[in-house]
Amino acid sequence: KMRRGWIECRHDIDSFAPDLLSLYESLKPSEEHKSKQTQLIDSLAKSLSKEWPNARLHLYGSCANSFGTSHSDVDVCLEIEIGTESTVEILQRLADILHGDNFDDVEAITSARVPIVRMLDPGSGFSCDICINNLFAVANTKLLKDYAQIDGRLLQLASIVKHWAKLRGVNETYRGTLSSYAYVLMCISFLQLREPKILPCLQAMDPTYIMVVDDTKCTYFDDIHQLHDFGAENKESIAELLWAFFHYWAFQHDYRKDVISIRMGKIISKKEKDWTTRVGNDRHLMCIEDPFEISHDLGRVVDRQTIRIIIEEFERAADVLQHDNDPCVTLFKPYNY
Ligand code: CTP
Ligand code: MG
Repeated sequence: KMRRGWIECRHDIDSFAPDLLSLYESLKPSEEHKSKQTQLIDSLAKSLSKEWPNARLHLYGSCANSFGTSHSDVDVCLEIEIGTESTVEILQRLADILHGDNFDDVEAITSARVPIVRMLDPGSGFSCDICINNLFAVANTKLLKDYAQIDGRLLQLASIVKHWAKLRGVNETYRGTLSSYAYVLMCISFLQLREPKILPCLQAMDPTYIMVVDDTKCTYFDDIHQLHDFGAENKESIAELLWAFFHYWAFQHDYRKDVISIRMGKIISKKEKDWTTRVGNDRHLMCIEDPFEISHDLGRVVDRQTIRIIIEEFERAADVLQHDNDPCVTLFKPYNY
């Protein structure tokens, strides 16, 4: 298939910005939603304190990184001292406790890369994932939250992209498509690559924040109020950026060679990471480097079939924004693979 290079967007693209902005506003979690979340955390803390009085509860994921919507679940990390018990045993015990405290559908999912207990809070109806001592997730949550405060267009773009991915069926890691977290990293990377830049690379600046997790130093510049007008020179509207985002991932990104890295603030090569696809190995087809666990490729879930589906979705989205009469409706037409 012919890959088109750089092309210009339709001239009336900005006329769709108001509709996209009101969509973004409508996706934001309500005050009621947030207070229900707080109640859930409080009752969870109560349940856990009996068993683990010294435990700390951290929120991570979209309920804490500011990329949440009213459909987001609640992600909680339990920080505890582990003796001789294994994480799996602790999760099993945790599941029993929550079940006894009347949480619904409690299930220990221990085969995942990050084992969790998943449950439903009957009070709020929220789904809640609890992991043990996964402080990388706590660190990357803070990193994402800090990026979001530098330029408002990141939150707008990422919320709309997440919404699009959910409706188009390409936000399901168990089926070989990408996590919400991966889409947010793609948005950050994309805004770091704009000319003029809309986001800086916080991990390339003098570190002001440090958190040590399993012998890995997670460091970056977090004094973000110094960067409040970083992207001001770039005047692109959310409509233009959304189109350029899809156009970039559809036609400009080189999936055979490139790795997305917000840690470096630029595209790096599969070769230098030794993430070359080997015979009989379907992984590393689409490479998205985790900012702190740098050997972790968030695109690992993608196989030969799903990479095609994802790229075709990017192409469709770019095309809809370029040509459709009613792009803000057509773009989000639900689809299931
Ligand atoms: N996470 C991670 N590594 C992954 C996937 C997720 O560290 N491979 C952590 C990140 O801290 C991420 C959090 O788990 O923010 C939640 O991931 P995910 O559910 O994909 O993102 P949310 O932002 O919570 O999205 P949603 O609103 O869809 O729940
Ligand atoms: Mg989540």
